[in-house]
Amino acid sequence: MTDSCKLTGLLKDTVYCFVSPDAQVLSVESSPISAGSRAVELSRHRLKLGVSSGENEASTGASDSEISLITKLANYNERSALSRLYAQGAKVPFSLSNQPQCEGRSLLCIQDVDDQTDYSRLDIAALEAKEMQALAYIHSKNLGCREEVPWLPVVDEDQIAVAVGHWWKPAWKAAKSHPDFAGTFGAERLAEIESVAEGIVSAMVPVIEDTATYTMIHNDLNPGNVLVHNNEEVYFIDWEEACYGSLFLDIPMRCSSVRQAFAYKKYLNNYGLEIPDAKFAELFAVASRYLGLRYMCWNLGVWEHNERAKADLCKYMDMVTRPLFS
Ligand SMILES: Nc1ncnc2c1ncn2[C@@H]1O[C@H](COP(=O)(O)OP(=O)(O)O)[C@@H](O)[C@H]1O
Ligand SMILES: [Mg+2]
Repeated sequence: MTDSCKLTGLLKDTVYCFVSPDAQVLSVESSPISAGSRAVELSRHRLKLGVSSGENEASTGASDSEISLITKLANYNERSALSRLYAQGAKVPFSLSNQPQCEGRSLLCIQDVDDQTDYSRLDIAALEAKEMQALAYIHSKNLGCREEVPWLPVVDEDQIAVAVGHWWKPAWKAAKSHPDFAGTFGAERLAEIESVAEGIVSAMVPVIEDTATYTMIHNDLNPGNVLVHNNEEVYFIDWEEACYGSLFLDIPMRCSSVRQAFAYKKYLNNYGLEIPDAKFAELFAVASRYLGLRYMCWNLGVWEHNERAKADLCKYMDMVTRPLFS
């Protein structure tokens, strides 16, 4: 079978499973999506559907509709995580693979989450609350689920050491050689960041060892991976980096205030996981420092040409030097 036949078959199967078994695909218009951070092959497909209005009746055209689907050459982690989470009723898109057992990358057809979303008309406060609930649901539902997800990598000290030593350190060194770097961000702040980086691997040990909060974590909650569906719900996409580890490795990326962090904590509590306030504050703050270092790498290389990247760099620096609860 050609790649194009396989793609059409997968799109049709996805429509059959998740849209309507009665829908017929009348036409498909495909276009590539500009590559995300990992430059994995991604496309958007606009499908015209005809739905037969009754038994044995051909499509009348009266109930024709359009939908949009995404395809991605997704790794095993992402395909399996999405399938598990969708079955749990978590806020993730529906998805279908025609090679679910393949250990390498294979084509995944995914619901286009924000096709109908108008980002200029969002109720941010309501969405923030929904997001905290959605994240707490995923974390609590998969708490201690190791035996069911043996395929998920476990976060360990090595992962932290690589993120800082292999990615952050060279990016930081290059940024420091820029004549305006210290003047723009402040020499004192830079020295503080270096001192945090120096001790971050050992500081993270309590997070790494906190098996009571081990669950399925997204592990890459950058803004591009959190989308709004139909202006009403927050969905998490791109589960490529999913791991088994402490939920503290996710939450500082999505909480910009103590109020929001406590909202997450309250939802977690409602779902049956109670974390003492002092422990929550301590592990949140240290994970925030680590995530600030990890996520500033790209911004360190582009801040001078890109105002948005500069603002985000400041945000990540603050996660290191002024984490919530510190
Ligand atoms: N299911 C989806 N619905 C809507 N947009 C998507 C979807 N999947 C991917 N995208 C768009 O493509 C971008 C990159 O896709 P993503 O799965 O995050 O891949 P990468 O690993 O390259 O970051 C996303 O940030 C988003 O803008
Ligand atoms: Mg992404």
